[in-house]
Amino acid sequence: MALKNTTEQYGGVSITLHWLMALAIIALYFMGDYMVELTYYDKLYHTLPHIHKSIGILVGLTLVLRLAWLYSHPRPAELPNTPDWQHLLARLGHIGLYLLIIALIISGYLISTAKGKGIEVFNWFEIPALLAESPERGEIAGKIHEYAATLLMLLVLVHAGAAFLHHFYWKDSTLKRMLGRA
Ligand code: HEM
Ligand code: HEM
Repeated sequence: MALKNTTEQYGGVSITLHWLMALAIIALYFMGDYMVELTYYDKLYHTLPHIHKSIGILVGLTLVLRLAWLYSHPRPAELPNTPDWQHLLARLGHIGLYLLIIALIISGYLISTAKGKGIEVFNWFEIPALLAESPERGEIAGKIHEYAATLLMLLVLVHAGAAFLHHFYWKDSTLKRMLGRA
């Protein structure tokens, strides 16, 4: 498999970034949902948010790489047998996925830094808190984070549903191109 995208299919870099991020984001969703229910005396009360924030920041950094790669290496050509409205919907869906991920990274940063402390990424490096302490900001960012995460998961379901529809019903190479098997 070539590393770069060709006109027929996604290359190794795009494919690896896509599936790595998909896995990380789905894991972040369930981790986030679970960790907000923990009580102070639970063993994971501090550990899970630490892991959630660390993976979240790494997803943010990977997203920058992914967008840079996307702009320097054009996506494969659109499949000839799919109608224009499907290309448009897919494009809008992909933009929606990117925007929601960006909203989650920004709101996650704002919740985490609302107490005036930076974010330790796996005790490896620290992202500093650039704004002053503000519990209200943390509260608002928390609501946005929660809604954005729910919307993202709904859009991912539609996105994966569309991929399966292409694969099993229309039997075209949409999914195979993202698996490196077209
Ligand atoms: C795509 C990435 C992400 C997803 C899907 C995600 C998902 C979630 C979910 C579902 C929750 C539970 C929300 C609730 O029910 O109140 C949550 C909470 C949280 N997330 Fe994320 N998250 C992501 C990225 C981040 C990032 C990058 C950070 C920080 C740098 C972060 C920090 C937090 C914090 C601090 C909470 C706890 C909020 C609270 O106590 O109300 N998240 N996340
Ligand atoms: C959190 C989960 C996911 C996110 C955030 C995500 C995001 C994206 C984005 C942004 C693209 C556009 C690629 C580009 O940048 O050009 C894409 C393409 C694609 N994704 Fe996902 N994806 C996720 C999960 C999945 C799943 C579970 C499947 C299949 C079961 C899937 C199948 C595909 C396919 C087939 C394409 C290529 C579409 C095309 O060529 O037009 N994705 N995905």
